[in-house]
Amino acid sequence: MKKLAAGNWKMNGLEATLAEIDALASAHPAPGCDVLICPPATLLSRLSARAEGTAIATGAQDCHPNESGAHTGDVSAGMIADAGGAYVIVGHSERRADHGESDAVVRAKAEAAWRAGLIAIICVGETLDERDAGRTLDIVGGQLAGSIPDGATAANTVVAYEPVWAIGTGKVPTLAEIGEVHDDIRARLSARFSGEAAGMRLLYGGSVKPSNAAEIFGVSNVDGALVGGASLKAADFGGIVGALA
Ligand code: 13P
Repeated sequence: MKKLAAGNWKMNGLEATLAEIDALASAHPAPGCDVLICPPATLLSRLSARAEGTAIATGAQDCHPNESGAHTGDVSAGMIADAGGAYVIVGHSERRADHGESDAVVRAKAEAAWRAGLIAIICVGETLDERDAGRTLDIVGGQLAGSIPDGATAANTVVAYEPVWAIGTGKVPTLAEIGEVHDDIRARLSARFSGEAAGMRLLYGGSVKPSNAAEIFGVSNVDGALVGGASLKAADFGGIVGALA
């Protein structure tokens, strides 16, 4: 399977930030992994145009479950595709926390993504309290069961494991902890989606940097990364792309 280096710019990025794409593309004209940038919705169309002819794919950070209608401020999956996006992140912990998104809402968003021909990156991950209580595998297992729709395939779904306490904190689980969760995710996906599960990419996310990327990518069932802060600068993200390729 082709591994994936995915950058989530979150609520960062203005016109001037698009220059990072040029730098990334020229440093990695033919990367050995898939490369994705998910900018804020305001930049998606411009970034997609700028990335044309490069190895960089683009996507969004969220979508509404409906195709269109009276949903002020929301963006539909069809609009993302229309703006040049190929992927959409759904169920990021920041959206689950800031916008109260439940597993059922995340599942509906993933279905909407598929209807528009997008690949859904479905995010799961435990809080520090949940980890300390020894509930990590139960929490992540419950999120997988509730957030991934029936019909998930290796082609339409990527799963991102992002421990909430590792996001933007500089704290990273041990390699053994990452491996334990990724192995468990693969086993649960195999039980539910049989043969398709082997080809579904499982990304680790949470304080991935050029300095720790290679060792994280060496962990079993880690097929790439979902990167926040270190995706904003071409030099940093390029280091992660290089570690994965
Ligand atoms: P950081 O890489 O900034 O920790 O963010 C991870 C993340 O939430 C990506 O979606």
